[in-house]
Amino acid sequence: MAILVTGGAGYIGSHMVLHLADAGENVVVLDNLTTGFSWLVDHRVKLVEGNVADAELVSKIIAENEIDSIIHFAGSIIVPESVENPLKYYKNNTANTRDLIAAAVAGGVKHFIFSSTAAVYGMVGLEPVAEDAILSPVSPYGRSKLMSEWMLADVAAAHPITYGVLRYFNVAGADPQMRSGQSTAGATHLIKVAVQTALGHRETMSVFGDDYPTPDGTCVRDYIHVADLVAAHGLLLGHLRDGGESTTVNCGYGRGFSVDEVISTVKSVTGIDFPVEHGPRRPGDPASIVAGADRIKALGWVPKHDDLAGIVEMAYKWEKYLDTRNDRPSIL
Ligand code: UFG
Repeated sequence: MAILVTGGAGYIGSHMVLHLADAGENVVVLDNLTTGFSWLVDHRVKLVEGNVADAELVSKIIAENEIDSIIHFAGSIIVPESVENPLKYYKNNTANTRDLIAAAVAGGVKHFIFSSTAAVYGMVGLEPVAEDAILSPVSPYGRSKLMSEWMLADVAAAHPITYGVLRYFNVAGADPQMRSGQSTAGATHLIKVAVQTALGHRETMSVFGDDYPTPDGTCVRDYIHVADLVAAHGLLLGHLRDGGESTTVNCGYGRGFSVDEVISTVKSVTGIDFPVEHGPRRPGDPASIVAGADRIKALGWVPKHDDLAGIVEMAYKWEKYLDTRNDRPSIL
């Protein structure tokens, strides 16, 4: 019995692989290495370079390794890019997921865990947002993921497969043992951008909009440590393997920080006062989004890293580690 992790050479996927390998699971990673890195894949697991939509390859992996579960991370994740290039998102996040699910069903895979996103909610009125809130994504990214959620639910109703959907809030931080971290070239996520600016890799950074209807006018997000996030996947997989029902869960801590608060935290953790500009809003950004995490907590999830300063510290440590590598991924 083994688990197929797609996108296991990427940021969150590589942490999932560490979590599973630490728990003694057999793992196969499938990654096309367009945004991931082979050196992020733990040496205890097998890496296959290829595409999740390659039905022949996926079927072969499932049969040869007796895959009982798939954890599907591979996809595109940048909200503003999805506004500029929606078809890339409908291909990578929707069409490719369809093909992977088809191969899973054909190969008799029992459980399918899918990386979804808080972006499926869109503009949220009530906070924190629960899983049964109205789904009204405001970006192609959110819509591309929501379509995959629906596909999965329809397929599970028709075939003997159960699923777990995790809607991620804002994932940050790095493996506490510093075996992996956010390494994506040209990363756009706030904490990553801020620690790179602190380290002088960027001359300045911009706050995208300060006229939102939030306490300080900047967007509010629920930042969750990547180690807590992958632990939630492990828990959900255990639930499905024990015969539990398919479910969709939010993954966040249930509290939010504004962009200005995050930047202040990065300045205090690093001890560096870097330049910050206030610029216009970025397309596709909801003002505020915080997780209602009751469902995942009811499954027994107990976060261990709910501390913004600690999350920033690990992100900062990882960024400094990347600086020591000759093959450091490009920053911009
Ligand atoms: N931001 C800045 N300056 C930057 C980078 C980001 O002001 O240089 C702001 C953004 O405008 C936003 C906030 O910081 O208000 C967070 O932005 P990120 O790009 O870090 O993350 P997003 O909120 O856009 O997206 C992330 C994930 C999605 C998830 C979403 C849920 O990538 O998968 O959080 O809120 F859906």
